[in-house]
Amino acid sequence: VYPQVKWLSERGIKTDVIIGGRSKEFVILEDEMKKLGANVYPCTDDGSYGFNGRVTDKIKDLVDNGNNYDEVIAIGPMIMMKFVCSLTKELGISTIVSLNTLMVDGTGMCGACRVTVGNETKFACVDGPEFDGHLVDFDEAMKRQAIYKTEEGQKLAKAEKDHTCTCKKNI
Ligand code: FES
Repeated sequence: VYPQVKWLSERGIKTDVIIGGRSKEFVILEDEMKKLGANVYPCTDDGSYGFNGRVTDKIKDLVDNGNNYDEVIAIGPMIMMKFVCSLTKELGISTIVSLNTLMVDGTGMCGACRVTVGNETKFACVDGPEFDGHLVDFDEAMKRQAIYKTEEGQKLAKAEKDHTCTCKKNI
């Protein structure tokens, strides 16, 4: 998120930055964001620092208090991005997500970052990592992410990689 905020600030575009964490020690880059001129809203799940709640609660709070947004950029855990997108869809705010969290080798070969976006198969490392969050199938992506953490999942990844290579040869 930091480079995005920097880029926007340098062009005079105002930003509100919500940084969420389980507790205070997980809230990072607050000072750096402030130095860029952003309004920063730290949030913690346990209320140990800043707003007591999740980032989605803070988005709702800001909107309920009369703030209007042209765009939301959500970067972080898949579950957070999923819920941000479901909220911003409801609020009618276009949302970009960055799916680099799915990447393993980052070369387009392992298949780990395969994701369905608007009914099309995409690879985060080749076609992204940024996508229209309202079109991403988060449930499928999270299921795949969980599979890849197991030994069986890694075997599946290898099998998919071999299949990918075979397909490429055939083309
Ligand atoms: Fe392996 Fe994208 S990270 S294919």
